[in-house]
Amino acid sequence: SLRTFNKRLFSTCLKSLNIEKAPIAFVFDIDGVLMQTKNPILPFAPMTLTYLKDNKIPFILLTNGGGMKESSRIKFLNDKLTNNLSNADIGDDNNDSIKLLKTSQLVQSHTPMKNLIKKYNRVLVIGGLDPEAREVALNYGFNEVIRPIDIIKSTPNIWPFSRYTQHELIYHSLNPSISLINEKPIDAILVFNDPRDMGTDLQIIIDLLCSKNGLLGTRRIEKSSKPSIPIIWSNKDLLWSTGYPIPRFGQGAFRLSVRELYKSLNNGFELNDTVLGKPFSVSFKYAEWILGKEWKNLSNLNNESELNIEKFIPDLNVKPTENLFKKVYMVGDNPESDIKGGNDYGWETILVKTGVYKDGDFEINKNLSKPTFGIFNNVWDGVSAALKANG
Ligand code: G3P
Ligand code: MG
Repeated sequence: SLRTFNKRLFSTCLKSLNIEKAPIAFVFDIDGVLMQTKNPILPFAPMTLTYLKDNKIPFILLTNGGGMKESSRIKFLNDKLTNNLSNADIGDDNNDSIKLLKTSQLVQSHTPMKNLIKKYNRVLVIGGLDPEAREVALNYGFNEVIRPIDIIKSTPNIWPFSRYTQHELIYHSLNPSISLINEKPIDAILVFNDPRDMGTDLQIIIDLLCSKNGLLGTRRIEKSSKPSIPIIWSNKDLLWSTGYPIPRFGQGAFRLSVRELYKSLNNGFELNDTVLGKPFSVSFKYAEWILGKEWKNLSNLNNESELNIEKFIPDLNVKPTENLFKKVYMVGDNPESDIKGGNDYGWETILVKTGVYKDGDFEINKNLSKPTFGIFNNVWDGVSAALKANG
């Protein structure tokens, strides 16, 4: 059975490794490395994370995914990853009740946007599901969070083809519906995740970028590359891996549509926008802080004030001063986000074949970033090779 296979494979792999503890650390991408949408990549994902956790080797997750609270995503991942590898499979002495993953180990694409709560008061949050995405933004501390569903509820003819059901319009929009939609400006547009109703989101975003100072229902006269209000994307992934044989459009495809429409309405001016997420260093700097906290937490180096690391919010674009690790390995499936970002940041990089990257891609596109440490069939092969190399 799979359970027996897992057990044999797991114990065989462990025997072959003679691992010395070394302050190396791992940063894992999620989609295409540990998961394929809702399906864990078995048995390698749970096996790898369980091994690292049991041997106190620090690791965190850095994903361009998002749309839900970090705590909800971690619960989802723990359910998916540990239910497929019962305690029996990971040896009796590991039979502890502590969860495989902690919320403090997760950096989602929009997690760094926590830093913007003082800069913007009333934000339009795009992407993800209702009501989860609104809860994320409110949980971060934004004062007023508007969602496209609120706008459709109060002004349905802003986009007559919206896909919201009556149930969603009643239960997931702000109650009482905000009649102020056209009376109070929106300060910024935050794109948390992929849109679920691209038509509605495209129309509303372009309306705001070309509005008079963020007021819906208005149109500015001037044409410019500077939008009326800022738009901040949580990543620019053109493609991502869902487990479908061919990679799917990501938030980056949506961004290209917005940029092209903006250009057509602004005399050819390109949109000045802001993009976070991998491959950009802003996300790697943020992740390095979180990884450092995890390492201190594991080795009980945290002082009292640092214990509540879930509340810790690194400043945007500030690299940690302490160099806590001999080496950090970024493990990803996408050369354009995970590998490029890790290489540019000075980390070792491991590319796996369980996601976007497919054999032959480097021959087709010579500009793709190559991993510094190697290409492996799956996350366990990559991580075990790295552990051996640092044995
Ligand atoms: O929306 C998720 C996708 O853009 C990629 O996610 O985990 O592979 O960075 P991930
Ligand atoms: Mg990925």
